[in-house]
Amino acid sequence: MRSNKQTGQPGDNAIQTGNGSGLFEPAPTTTPAVVVTGGSKGIGRAIAKEFLVKGHSVVLVARNADRLEQVAAELRDFLPARRQLEVFAVDVTRDDSYALLGQHLAERGLHTDVLVNNAGLGLGGPFFEQSSDDLDRLIALNVGALTRWTRLAMSEMIGRGRGHIINMASLGGYAPGPNQAAYYASKAYVISLSEALSAEAVGTGVRVSVTAPGPVETGFHATMEADQSFYRYLVPSLSPERVAKSVYGGYRFGSRVIIPGLINRLLSIFMRILPHPILVPLVGWLLAQRGRS
Ligand SMILES: NC(=O)c1ccc[n+]([C@@H]2O[C@H](COP(=O)([O-])OP(=O)(O)OC[C@H]3O[C@@H](n4cnc5c(N)ncnc54)[C@H](OP(=O)(O)O)[C@@H]3O)[C@@H](O)[C@H]2O)c1
Repeated sequence: MRSNKQTGQPGDNAIQTGNGSGLFEPAPTTTPAVVVTGGSKGIGRAIAKEFLVKGHSVVLVARNADRLEQVAAELRDFLPARRQLEVFAVDVTRDDSYALLGQHLAERGLHTDVLVNNAGLGLGGPFFEQSSDDLDRLIALNVGALTRWTRLAMSEMIGRGRGHIINMASLGGYAPGPNQAAYYASKAYVISLSEALSAEAVGTGVRVSVTAPGPVETGFHATMEADQSFYRYLVPSLSPERVAKSVYGGYRFGSRVIIPGLINRLLSIFMRILPHPILVPLVGWLLAQRGRS
């Protein structure tokens, strides 16, 4: 796999990595980088670009290497001086994926200072019609990989006394979601886990945030055959760039929960106070697939 390393110069915040070096042998330094899973498309690509524009070294992670290279080539115009833009093609659901990332970064003089666990997939339609394989894939990515990457990154960051993990949930994580039941449940898990870890991380120098966007204009909804669903017409969508700006603002501010857009913030309150006998059928009506092929 190719990479897009621009320079080998460490950034301003480079840190020492202890590898047993003696007095006369300076320890190698690594440069902090922002690692974005699902960085080749949609929201992940926009978040990667936002961090790049704001002066960070960035590593894009996704499975499709060609697509990663293409996106890196597009983003290279925004690469600041003395920063690196790298790609790493891996399926994050692989047990050894985080270790492979660590190796890839170390070879390029980088370490994970900010991890954006963005890669995720949705499944639309009645739960009983979904295949067990599709459900397993959703849980493996939205829950399994995110949990493993969060734990490994968090322990590494706590050892270093600094770092930030931003987990991608969804506004859907605030309600049960008939017709996207497993997807909504997976995002409820992400919100719960991340808020709990945010509290556990207090005093360690590490931050854990969760972001919960409402609908965003990406190919995500079409993949779920949800483009005709009522929520696509009734709940305003944001652009990936708008979401990325909110995520970056939340990162700078150290926000525990980042909900992009005023309407989505109001909806999140509404979803938490509306009694479930009213909320759940309403959400199910909004999510029902219409005009399925
Ligand atoms: N779009 C929305 O309305 C919306 C709203 C709220 C939250 N979200 C959440 O935001 C995140 C991104 O959504 P999106 O709309 O930008 O999705 P998207 O356009 O479908 O992009 C998904 C990204 O994840 C990567 N990916 C998928 N499976 C992977 C795996 N196993 N290992 C590594 N990378 C993988 C994909 O690249 P490869 O296929 O090459 O791996 C791609 O880069 C998801 O977690 C989603 O649940 C989306």
